[in-house]
Amino acid sequence: MSKGLTIALTKGRILQETLPLLAAAGIELTEDPKKSRKLIFDTNHPDIHVVIIRGVDVPTYVQFGAADIGVAGRDILLEDPSDRFYELVDLGIAKCRLMTAALVGKTRPQGRLRVATKFTHSAKRWYASKGIQVELIKLYGAMELAPLMNLADEIVDIVDTGNTLKANGLEPRENIADISSRLIVNKASMRVNHDRIMQIADKIQQAVNND
Ligand code: PRP
Repeated sequence: MSKGLTIALTKGRILQETLPLLAAAGIELTEDPKKSRKLIFDTNHPDIHVVIIRGVDVPTYVQFGAADIGVAGRDILLEDPSDRFYELVDLGIAKCRLMTAALVGKTRPQGRLRVATKFTHSAKRWYASKGIQVELIKLYGAMELAPLMNLADEIVDIVDTGNTLKANGLEPRENIADISSRLIVNKASMRVNHDRIMQIADKIQQAVNND
């Protein structure tokens, strides 16, 4: 017997790119989330609901089965390595890069490097792979400020156009990972609701391929 489905989407910029992909799978919200303060939305399917939350919370909802399906950036998934969900589709949206960055022209200091980032897991792994000793400084935003205030030697952050780095006297250095949004599915949901979830994932994959 199949039960209803809950889909967790990331609010903000990614949402506007995600909704057309859901629509391609025949799933449409009954009201415009931009015009509502609601967190849970009905769809044109009585048994499918959509929750709109912070990207960083999407893997948590999907891992615990509070949501069956989720859409989250690879930057977030890399921070939360879990074997409790499947990554089914690369949606090819919200493309950007996870990079190191430093003050323009500044050479990397010898010894232990101070790195400010909210992507501590990816940063730790990447610097370790290069044999560079780091002290990680966890920040939750405005990472670009840290080198300017001498809080850190380098940052690890998302780079899209590069404008934010440039506006703050920083330059991108090494590429750590290419980022895009991914469709993830709770493992237990996949067993219980396999056909329906695969049908949705296939339609979304087709829409991505045709883009
Ligand atoms: C990201 C990132 C940079 C900026 C990079 O922030 O943290 O600040 O975008 O984009 P650019 O290369 O085009 O300038 P975002 O706006 O997603 O906000 P957040 O980090 O506070 O979530």
